[in-house]
Amino acid sequence: MRDNVESRVIIPVQNPRKILALAVSVWLCATAPSFGADPAAADSPRGMVVSPEAHASRVGAEVLAEGGTAADAAVAVAFALAVTNPQAGGIGGGGFLLYRDEHGNHTALDFRETAPEGLTPDRFVDESGKPVPGLSLETGLAVGVPGVVAGLAEIHERWGVLPWKRLIEPAIGLARDGFPVYPDLVRAYGSAEKRLRLDERATAIFLPGAGVPLRGRILEQPQLAATLERIARRGRAGFYEGPVAQALVATVQARGGVMELTDLGAYEVVEREPVRGTYRGYRVVSFPPPSSGGIILLQMLAMLERFEMPEGYGASDTIHLMAEIQRRAFADRSKWLGDPDHVDVPVERLLDSAYVASRASTIDRSRATPSSEILPGAPAAEGSDTAHFSVADRSGRAASLTTTLNTSFGSGIVAAGTGIVLNNEMDDFSLAPGVPNVYGLVGGEANAVRPRKRPLSSMTPTIVEYAETGKRPFLVLGSPGGPRIINAVFQVLVNVIDHGMELQEAVNAPRVHHQWIPDLISYEERALPADVRRALRAMGHSLATYERIGNVNAIGADENGHWLGAADPRKGGAATGQP
Ligand code: DON
Repeated sequence: MRDNVESRVIIPVQNPRKILALAVSVWLCATAPSFGADPAAADSPRGMVVSPEAHASRVGAEVLAEGGTAADAAVAVAFALAVTNPQAGGIGGGGFLLYRDEHGNHTALDFRETAPEGLTPDRFVDESGKPVPGLSLETGLAVGVPGVVAGLAEIHERWGVLPWKRLIEPAIGLARDGFPVYPDLVRAYGSAEKRLRLDERATAIFLPGAGVPLRGRILEQPQLAATLERIARRGRAGFYEGPVAQALVATVQARGGVMELTDLGAYEVVEREPVRGTYRGYRVVSFPPPSSGGIILLQMLAMLERFEMPEGYGASDTIHLMAEIQRRAFADRSKWLGDPDHVDVPVERLLDSAYVASRASTIDRSRATPSSEILPGAPAAEGSDTAHFSVADRSGRAASLTTTLNTSFGSGIVAAGTGIVLNNEMDDFSLAPGVPNVYGLVGGEANAVRPRKRPLSSMTPTIVEYAETGKRPFLVLGSPGGPRIINAVFQVLVNVIDHGMELQEAVNAPRVHHQWIPDLISYEERALPADVRRALRAMGHSLATYERIGNVNAIGADENGHWLGAADPRKGGAATGQP
């Protein structure tokens, strides 16, 4: 039987601020308007899956119950999401996994999309060097060589114990028999419908009938079922060779892309060294470049640790401090970070405590520093849509996995006859210096387009450990949301560790986001009441509302070895404990 509890799961934090915690809980209850239906929080002594979609969470919990490891469950959940979360979690995209084994060792697997060999920077710009709108978002040039199937095969090979086929079967069933369209999927069509209509295959599958399918309609994907069956039989080769690969390449080329079969054949999953830091006694492990997430998260935590957290989670002093920290870290993102196989990323120097201290020392506690005055630092002498899910098993293994197609339904292009929605990840490159991408992010040379290079990401799959390695980690979490990912993860960590919130409460709590450029704090409506907005404006901040900042699906373990799952209500995910 599943151990679902209605709301409050207590995560006992080794936290000196328990009194503040209580005050914050009271404040939240008093001030936070309800956020739609409360998501299921779950707890189980055995295993836990928290994903953005309920069928996928159930698939993972069943794999765990059959004796699968967290890796087996992660593979099964990822394939299930490729069906039930087609706006975000497809096999036509890429992703990152941070894995914890039963001894507490961590491995980072990078299966991010790569630029095809023929993708040179000039492809995206006109004669004057200006990026041509749309090319990196809704044409064949937008599509990077997908990494998800190779990544999942690698995960299974390294840490799986159940048969590969067993892990794909539930996804095949969901694709063949269909699943009911749910509110977040309906919402995802909002920004994607126009793009999907440019592609007749995408239109036929995802816009059957007159328009956007209504909630509850059964969405069947028979072509995707057949593709998944091929992958179940042939493994990685079922995607990177043969008819699926041929269809993918032909479709991309017909839409103006330059991908070749050799690009698919050459795709490699890369194991990377995770980035590590500490925060108020906890050990934080996160994803290294080509994600910016881990480094920016660790920089922000290191800056924050230098300050006493102001009283009150939602107080203007707290929001101001968080935003000033975010502003400074994101400035560094724009200059220093890119694919480490192509550019030299000064990881240690960006995380050096003296460097971080010097960045933090420029924070004025009473006034906003305009972003125009914050340049990327000099750390050394030399120079939507995405899905995150978290899995944990009986032996303390944990998978923190984020996959993405980039924007909702990616490029909106479906590879002919395969049902595979293709990413538009090439927009994550900096197409020209200082020219913002779809998330308003700017970058330079470190993240310029190069053949076979991986675009800089913000995905931040993260695992937090207790000070002493124990049987189970303290937290497993991550989020979608482009640059907002990093700040969503940052705030959930701070909510639990500094503000002493219970895990579900920490996930539910409203968020703010600053990314240096544009120079403003975006905030979820309920994050900043009128008096706090007034105080922040008086300090010199510009403010703008943003509907949903991130979607954090998190697992925590209490000291009794109980797993606690917290799905984010923002996108209506589900936490499912192992029965
Ligand atoms: O890798 C990245 O940072 C982006 N492509 C992620 C996009 C994303 O999270 C969209 N989600 N809502």
